[in-house]
Amino acid sequence: MAGAIAARRGFSRTAAACGLLAAACWLASGVQGAAPPVNYDESKVPAYTLPDPLMTESGKKVASAEEWRAVRRPEILRLFETHVYGKTPAGGPAAVTFERFDTEARALGGAATRKQVRVRFAAGAEGPGMDVLIYLPNAAAKPVPVFLGLNFGGNHTIAADPGIKLATVWKRGEVSAGAVADEASRGAAASRWPLELILGRGYGVATAYYGDIDPDFDDGFQNGVHPLFYREGQRRPEPDEWGSIGAWAWGLSRALDCLLADKEVDGARVAVLGHSRLGKTALWAGARDERFALVVSNNSGCGGAALSRRAFGETVARINTAFPHWFCGNFTRYNDREAFCPVDQHQLIALVAPRPVYVASAEKDQWADPRGEFLALKGADPVYRLLGTEGLPCGAMPALDTPVQGTMGYHIRRGGHDVTAYDWERYLDFADKHFRKRS
Ligand code: GCU
Repeated sequence: MAGAIAARRGFSRTAAACGLLAAACWLASGVQGAAPPVNYDESKVPAYTLPDPLMTESGKKVASAEEWRAVRRPEILRLFETHVYGKTPAGGPAAVTFERFDTEARALGGAATRKQVRVRFAAGAEGPGMDVLIYLPNAAAKPVPVFLGLNFGGNHTIAADPGIKLATVWKRGEVSAGAVADEASRGAAASRWPLELILGRGYGVATAYYGDIDPDFDDGFQNGVHPLFYREGQRRPEPDEWGSIGAWAWGLSRALDCLLADKEVDGARVAVLGHSRLGKTALWAGARDERFALVVSNNSGCGGAALSRRAFGETVARINTAFPHWFCGNFTRYNDREAFCPVDQHQLIALVAPRPVYVASAEKDQWADPRGEFLALKGADPVYRLLGTEGLPCGAMPALDTPVQGTMGYHIRRGGHDVTAYDWERYLDFADKHFRKRS
């Protein structure tokens, strides 16, 4: 894991350094033979044909919204479950319960009401669960629309607010559970969560720590929520069952359940967003759970918004090697064989249709293949149009810092792999455009 992250950091300095670091990571992962170089050359993208999102498995062209809903959408969802993210097992914890343990009406200098809710995934106070942190703008009329997203370091990292409970389960970067967060990391990710801006625009923010749902290291799925779903005698997910991204997406749906129980939140206007691996997660959550009214992918790259068939920057083989726990076992069949996968990522975006979807890239984030992210969005456009929306109102990839916003939105901004105030301003504009008509 560290190797791949270093690979991205390396790119922000030079592409060559990135290639070397990624190659080192590849070799360190135990794969035999020479590491193929990371491709950042557009002329070396292989020729490929994308699966047609509007052609059914039986070879019939989908001609109506009804056919999309009844036939093609369920087909594509099943293909992603079987080949990419894995099925979310049915059953599982009999009762997920919610307990609000904190309400502070004058948080953030009086700008917001802070709520914290313990979501228990299993019976008993000591069982696994996640804390959902919610800030609602005091100045806005209720109920308010909300942006929901998982965070990387614990809820306490999103703001310097001393009232936020510290994460307890696992500390990011450790390869064992148990290490707990410390005060030093309070507010460390505040730049990615510009609360003043978001609350000032009349939106609430809700977040949970992804490590509460499943710590992000390969432990054979012994910790996190997976074991709660095992059948008698089962020790790890089957090759077509969920990995960590599937579990994190499930957690987002449980956080949404929690928001829907709050009368101050407008349950019809909850947007799900995520950055990087959590952007992949937000897309999968938004694809599966149609209660999410709007979906935002920030620099999600390979296995997220970027087309796998382009094999540009991070590839299926690289991601499955560096992060063997993210996808389902079946996804490894497509290592260096992307063209054999029955789906590509434009169809993931199509599963969000007709709900608004926004994909954002960053110029220096070539590891995530910005052009591949744009082309995937474009590849979902025919579905959006069939469903009667305006889709993505541009033909070619827009210039830097020139957002395009229809029912689908896109921008590529200057700078590297990150979530910035610039990104948030675009998401807020996009949410205004789509949510205002419904308020
Ligand atoms: C690595 C990984 C990416 C992922 C990113 C992140 O760079 O290769 O696929 O998006 O980590 O989540 O930060």
